[in-house]
Amino acid sequence: MVLYAKVFGETPVGLNGAGVIVEVDLERGLPGFEIVGLPDMAVRESRERVRTALKNSGFPFPQNRITVNLAPANLRKDGSGLDLPIAVGILVSLGVLPQDKVKDKVFIGELSLEGVIREVNGVLPMVLEARRQGIREIFIPRGNEEEGCLVDGVSVFTPGDLKEMAAHLLHPCLQPLPHKELTVPDTELPDIDFADVHGQKVVKRALEIAAAGGHNILLVGSPGSGKTMLARRLPTILPPMTKEEALEVTKIYSIAGLLNHKKRLINERPFRSPHHTITLSALIGGGMVPVPGEVTLSHNGVLFLDEFPEFSRAALEVLRQPLEDHFVTINRVHGSYVFPASFLMVCAQNPCPCGFLGDESRECTCRPFEIERYQRKISGPLADRIDLQVYVPRVKYQDLQVRERGETSAQIRARVCAARDIQLQRLKGLGIYCNAAMNHRQVERFCKLDAACNALLEHAFNSLGLSARSYDRILKVARTIADLSQSDTILVSHIAEAIQLRTQQNP
Ligand SMILES: Nc1ncnc2c1ncn2[C@@H]1O[C@H](COP(=O)(O)OP(=O)(O)OP(=O)(O)O)[C@@H](O)[C@H]1O
Ligand SMILES: [Mg+2]
Ligand SMILES: [Zn+2]
Repeated sequence: MVLYAKVFGETPVGLNGAGVIVEVDLERGLPGFEIVGLPDMAVRESRERVRTALKNSGFPFPQNRITVNLAPANLRKDGSGLDLPIAVGILVSLGVLPQDKVKDKVFIGELSLEGVIREVNGVLPMVLEARRQGIREIFIPRGNEEEGCLVDGVSVFTPGDLKEMAAHLLHPCLQPLPHKELTVPDTELPDIDFADVHGQKVVKRALEIAAAGGHNILLVGSPGSGKTMLARRLPTILPPMTKEEALEVTKIYSIAGLLNHKKRLINERPFRSPHHTITLSALIGGGMVPVPGEVTLSHNGVLFLDEFPEFSRAALEVLRQPLEDHFVTINRVHGSYVFPASFLMVCAQNPCPCGFLGDESRECTCRPFEIERYQRKISGPLADRIDLQVYVPRVKYQDLQVRERGETSAQIRARVCAARDIQLQRLKGLGIYCNAAMNHRQVERFCKLDAACNALLEHAFNSLGLSARSYDRILKVARTIADLSQSDTILVSHIAEAIQLRTQQNP
């Protein structure tokens, strides 16, 4: 008997992996099994699984006092993915496996009571971290195979159970996974299309600009004017994700445990539409060990908030920080977690409680203070972060009658993609992918104005009482409008349209 073993595992921390050293020590004395370095509940469960899995796989279970130490001590270990390295460590300490067969290797996986290696969350970031540490061989659950294939430069194996794992370590018999690039297909458009929407030229134009530059947009209109219908069609005109974007999103869904069996990788932009009763932690991320919330799950995609004013005041307020910074920070006793949250926010709402303020055909029955209270729910600072604010008028009867279909999503999307390609070129190497994500310095660098543009903007500022934040935001939208018309420089007409689209929600 060796009595001591050292094996490597990984644990998810925020959106990344972190290495864990599993040390196993056998001492003479009364039989016992202790794990230190894990939270109470997890220890109890892991202990039971490892003990039973070893026995049911036909391995001896030591009759000594077993102490498993998970280092570093100050790192909060999360999840059941440490079962496998603990079990392997015990086998090494018993002399069933030689210590030199496990060095330079990382083990990730939960054990079932029969010894089957079960899938866990966060495999992609953990494998990436192991590779960064210089590990050569990584063992992951078979259920996480698709994620393992994405990482090249290391050998990733998927043993089915503990027995197969041990057999392979003694006499290599498993083949490493083939490497596969994360492919981003040219999105198959769902059976909804902008051609279904009659009229609404102005709103469609605004949505095209939103899609092209990743700008937030608010749709205000009376009931049945088509706000929900229009917003749901936004994904049909978004450009495909770049590989980097797709990898970021896949990592997020891996950590959140949302990669289901059929579709393991995320290569289409997320479209999330949480209900207005959503809790704060589901929106922003939270829990004992923080998991990503809706703002992070819509990273590189769309967050659609229908019936915007129905969301709680608190929920709307917490959106302010990610909308500005494009990430969220969640503080916990054992550290703070940062999750990316760069999303395109689409909001839809009625103009007043009864819904008919500004409608041509029906009278608004609200009293002025009711209207004020309703509109005040979206505070100034939040409204300030919404670049495009448009009124959706009720579609005219003549427009509904028109038989020929309008422009299709595919036609609009072609223009959006062309504009996005220009942005990707311009922003290359900056870690951002669209105009909306530019920070103040980048705006100064990429959105230069001539005297005429400056004069127009100054006039708008003084007459409309715009804030400093809206200054940058108008410039970004103008940049996108210029990109849509393939113009290197921002022209007066681009600035004018950007100002108009920002201030148009009032009928
Ligand atoms: N421009 C349009 N072209 C074709 N159909 C339309 C148009 N506008 C509305 N509709 C029809 O009206 C229905 C209701 O639209 P939708 O649910 O999007 O309205 P809404 O503005 O979200 O209303 P509410 O404020 O009540 O949520 C749509 O499903 C569609 O059938
Ligand atoms: Mg609606
Ligand atoms: Zn009203």
